Amino acid sequence: MCGIIGCAGRGDSTLDTLLHGLSKLEYRGYDSAGVALSDDDLTVRRKAGKLDALETSLGADPLQNGSGSVSDNPVGIGHTRWSTHGPPTDGNAHPHRDCTGRVAVIHNGIIENYQELRDELAASGHEFESDTDTEVVPHLIETALDSGMAPEEAVRDSIDRLEGAYAICVVIAGVDQVFAARNDSPLVLGVSDDAYFFASDVPAFREFTDKVIYLDDGEFAVINQNGYRVTDSNGAVVEKTVNTIEWDPEETGKSGYDHYMLKEIHEQPRALRQCLQGRVDELAGEVILEELGDVNPDAVQFVACGTSYHAALYGAQLFRSIGIPAQAYIASEYATSVPPIDDDLVIGVTQSGETADTLSALREARRRGAKTMAVTNVVGSTAARECDEALYIRAGPEIGVAATKTFASQLVTLALLSLWIDGEEDNRDVIAGFRDLASNVQAILDDTNARKIAEEYHDSDAYFFIGRGLHHPVALEGALKFKEISYEHAEGFPAGELKHGPLALVTDNTPVFAVVTGEGEQARKTIGNVKEVEARDAPVIAVTDGQSDVERYADHVLEIPESTPRTAAVLANVQLQLVSYYAAAQLGRPIDKPRNLAKSVTVE
Ligand code: F6R
Repeated sequence: MCGIIGCAGRGDSTLDTLLHGLSKLEYRGYDSAGVALSDDDLTVRRKAGKLDALETSLGADPLQNGSGSVSDNPVGIGHTRWSTHGPPTDGNAHPHRDCTGRVAVIHNGIIENYQELRDELAASGHEFESDTDTEVVPHLIETALDSGMAPEEAVRDSIDRLEGAYAICVVIAGVDQVFAARNDSPLVLGVSDDAYFFASDVPAFREFTDKVIYLDDGEFAVINQNGYRVTDSNGAVVEKTVNTIEWDPEETGKSGYDHYMLKEIHEQPRALRQCLQGRVDELAGEVILEELGDVNPDAVQFVACGTSYHAALYGAQLFRSIGIPAQAYIASEYATSVPPIDDDLVIGVTQSGETADTLSALREARRRGAKTMAVTNVVGSTAARECDEALYIRAGPEIGVAATKTFASQLVTLALLSLWIDGEEDNRDVIAGFRDLASNVQAILDDTNARKIAEEYHDSDAYFFIGRGLHHPVALEGALKFKEISYEHAEGFPAGELKHGPLALVTDNTPVFAVVTGEGEQARKTIGNVKEVEARDAPVIAVTDGQSDVERYADHVLEIPESTPRTAAVLANVQLQLVSYYAAAQLGRPIDKPRNLAKSVTVE
């Protein structure tokens, strides 16, 4: 989704600051980029394609404004665009300007009444150059300025006319301020001693400050080189809390790995230790979740999307296993047919805390009187702030578009949550099962044969993933990861479901990854399903802890250490992440930024 950066007070480093910020927002997914610098005059450069294209253009033809070179202390805004209205062309890239070229606007979100506004503006003589919804905003501001309003009033007045989701930044020639507003799209304000920033996400300015203000919906903010001011929708000043970010800027670098995804897969032992730290008391057989208040639900509904939905499926199974009815819903479907809520707790599982579908489902649940909880990675995210309770998965920043370490941390957090709510003393063994989790993940990372398997099968017709019980979400996640970064067809199924249709697709050129751990009934039944595909000559890759005899029917084995059912799901998933990564690498895919995808999906 689009990325926004704005800054004031960065002097002659303003352009570099914007480009650095955009590079840190690349992970969100985008297909064009642009910047604007504003002093007495306004100058804009926009380019379709990746940031390199914009940088090359700026290198070959430095920014100049009407009066020649840009001053040594402009304010600036920068944007990475993920297309919604109109294709990714130079002309559709942000910033967009008004007819006079003195107002520049960047925007994340969707302006729902843009057609109506555009018709009205066109009728009064405004000329539009792009297909975007955003372009109405500078023209509205132009009209307001022409009517005699002061710059801030003109921006406020124009934003008041917008319906839909937006995070917006505006600069105006001759005005040393950057204006910003948010409604349903993420926007944060960075505060340092001598400079101020707006951004969609903290990594954009983390290099320059660890102080951040989380803006709320309906708020309007202004920065210049001397400070900031936040006001509510009526213009009254709002005193905001300045938060301190706890992670270092280096955490958003690649640390020598070829891709963020591989780095983040390898960060899992640390992420899991962080997730568990201070939360389990093995001796007492207790889980401690200090951040939570009184949570004692009769039943639980999960809402989530994509990878987080798979974690929610796992969470729902764990809640059912302790006798609490629980169901996981795909968030975008939940909003259209909300089940009865009664005294249910509605839990939004969302890495970013900004996924529009999940936020909308949580809001619907709240409207109907439910207590809500966000299980999220991002402190201060919209989900964390809007829900009654927030439980953090503590995975650290995740930059690769494909969720990896955050899935592992979501599984563990949900397992802890179910045990905490259960509160039974005889959970001591289960709790002890987390002790070796991080080192078991490390053992897999140190000794995996995933690369060899990926190389052998990277050119197959399709890939299937099967598992039962807690391994069903793992199979779904294995397939999602595989398809999103390799662009190969992959599907995950509950193991028993294969024979009810999908088996027709199984051939000697469709590898089947089967997750089988333990030696109980579930393992035995999954082995039965493995035999079904083996009989159709499909290559079988068993992800197993060696407790059953699945190896006899498998062409290859991806080993995981013996563990408990809850943690086996985390371990098996690590092997599947690695297979996806190496298959995509073999195929030369842009692993961290798969085509058409965005890290944080802020539109419904
Ligand atoms: C896939 C992936 C997505 C996200 C989904 C929800 O690798 O990352 O499927 O899981 O877009 O995002 P969050 O968890 O931020 O709500």
